[in-house]
Amino acid sequence: MWKESFRTGIDVIDRQHKELFEKTAILLRGANDSVENNRELCISTIRFLENYAVSHFTYEEDYLLSIDYPDFAEHKMQHDKFLQSVVSYEQKMEESDFSAKHVKEFTGMLATWLIYHVADIDLRYAKPPKYSGGKDSRASAPTATAAATTTAASSATASAASATATSATASAASATATSASASAAPAPASAASAHATSAASDTASAASAPATSASAAAAARNHGEMVRDGIISTLNMMAGLEEQSFKDADLFDAGGDGAVSVDVGITGAASGYMTFVYPVPFIKNLMTSLMNYTPSEIGEMEISALFELTNIIGGNICGQIQKNENRRCDVMPPSLSDISIDEPDERICLETGIGVIKTDLVVDYLAA
Ligand SMILES: [Fe+2]
Repeated sequence: MWKESFRTGIDVIDRQHKELFEKTAILLRGANDSVENNRELCISTIRFLENYAVSHFTYEEDYLLSIDYPDFAEHKMQHDKFLQSVVSYEQKMEESDFSAKHVKEFTGMLATWLIYHVADIDLRYAKPPKYSGGKDSRASAPTATAAATTTAASSATASAASATATSATASAASATATSASASAAPAPASAASAHATSAASDTASAASAPATSASAAAAARNHGEMVRDGIISTLNMMAGLEEQSFKDADLFDAGGDGAVSVDVGITGAASGYMTFVYPVPFIKNLMTSLMNYTPSEIGEMEISALFELTNIIGGNICGQIQKNENRRCDVMPPSLSDISIDEPDERICLETGIGVIKTDLVVDYLAA
């Protein structure tokens, strides 16, 4: 799982990161093979990772303090929130006597978070700096992990039974819409109120507050690019997908049997929600690329990983909104969705090089 591109240039930290990745790979293999048959291996590896993460974070934070790292507080907060999330997962695993479901959910979250954190957040202090000329969006997306760590509460919904949801959002009926519809986007408030997902229901009421129409109209023109940038920068960073491999795709491709649809709410000075549809071929290729295994079917581990990925991409899109619109917002815990958004502000369907992702975005800006 560890890639040469993850190297920070600080030898001790790179060795510790490799150890974290190697142990995570062991947990992945054990959980994939059979949690029941590899019970002791899974439990001991989880215990090791929990303890090692704490000691590694301590070392890393001491190092960051020693170099007067300017973003120390935010970096430490990401560590702390992750550890809080681990405690929540740990509780569920203990209560279920380390059931396969909860071990797999923990493993999917852990592996995805680890790749994201090392490949993005940690490389910001790399020697030499790796992002000094890179995308500003990375540096301005502090919300991603803060929100990502909250998936612990929602990951319980990632049951295998619901893994078959949903291809409905990529129906032929909706295939006529294209990302070019940005200029004809409906009023955000009305679009937000037209749907009632669990994530959106909290934000829809907030969206009914008066919007600043001028800024909303201006923002609507940019949303497509924000979504594209959020997806491309995340997958480029985590999976090494080349930017030139991304291109607009036919919406009809963004579904199929077993496609997983994930909602994530937006809260803060911008509100609304996003729905991401991940077709099965994309999920399998993503797992192969990130975690060196190809699932035969989509289950708890893959859905948990998709929840984490959705949080990260959603956080990056919030970072774009914050940067471009000066509206600080955050993502809420993801949930599975089988509700199609009829008239999103933006509908982006991207071929990523390993499969298609469809994203619907509804966003509104509250009056300042
Ligand atoms: Fe870190």
